[in-house]
Amino acid sequence: MLNFAIQTARDAGRILAERFGRTLEITNKSELDLVTESDLASERLIIERIKTYHPRHAILAEESGASSPVDQELRSEWRWIIDPLDGTTNYAHGYPCFCVSMGLEFNGRMEVGVVYDPMRDELFTAERGQGASLNGRRIQVSPVNSLSGALLCTGFPYDVRERSEFARHFANFIMNAQGVRRDGAAALDLAYVACGRFDGFWEEGLKPWDVAAGSLLIEEAGGRVSKYDGAPLNIYTPPVLASNGLLHEQMMRVLAV
Ligand code: IPD
Ligand code: CA
Ligand code: CA
Repeated sequence: MLNFAIQTARDAGRILAERFGRTLEITNKSELDLVTESDLASERLIIERIKTYHPRHAILAEESGASSPVDQELRSEWRWIIDPLDGTTNYAHGYPCFCVSMGLEFNGRMEVGVVYDPMRDELFTAERGQGASLNGRRIQVSPVNSLSGALLCTGFPYDVRERSEFARHFANFIMNAQGVRRDGAAALDLAYVACGRFDGFWEEGLKPWDVAAGSLLIEEAGGRVSKYDGAPLNIYTPPVLASNGLLHEQMMRVLAV
């Protein structure tokens, strides 16, 4: 399954990279939420591959929603959770920070996660119990243990204007951390926590396809993912707090204010 996910994410990433920077057809899903023809082309490729090679698997994909296995008689234990292009706003503006994200659940538990950044040719992979890797090399979360020395990352959900608490959290982290970044691709942000580039991440209003693969990457790289109050993460009802583990309680305290 991991090899299948790697191959598929690479091929979908190639579609994104080939079209990057060209004039694209862009549609608004809401005032701030876009979809480009590349999101759709990438998702088409991924879904076709799953239906061809794993027809018994269910799929949850951002642009086409949930679908059952090809054979409707089968209730699948396996389910792919896909973001065909995470970082669409960046992509549409020619800002080269985006990725393909594929997670695979078995009976509701994440087993495989792949995040692929085609611009840097960086492939993040994880399999439950087998650790996490970047381009085949084992990765680990950072050893930073104080918020004042931490580089954090967050994202602004599309309905951020309706979330007044977001600005408070953002301000509190700016005042307490070494730095805060907002790169615009949540799956990649999580992958960067897994490999130690970021020490922690928080965001509310995420969707399962933003979090599925990245949460397994972080766990397998020795980090921690949870809700803001430390309760177990449910990828279907984020908020998400992710960290190297050492900073988790400190970040929870900031989010509690
Ligand atoms: C978005 C990105 C962004 C995050 C948003 C997501 P999309 O996904 O991950 O970083 O802040 O909440 O919806 O729409 O580019 O796939
Ligand atoms: Ca996304
Ligand atoms: Ca997307």
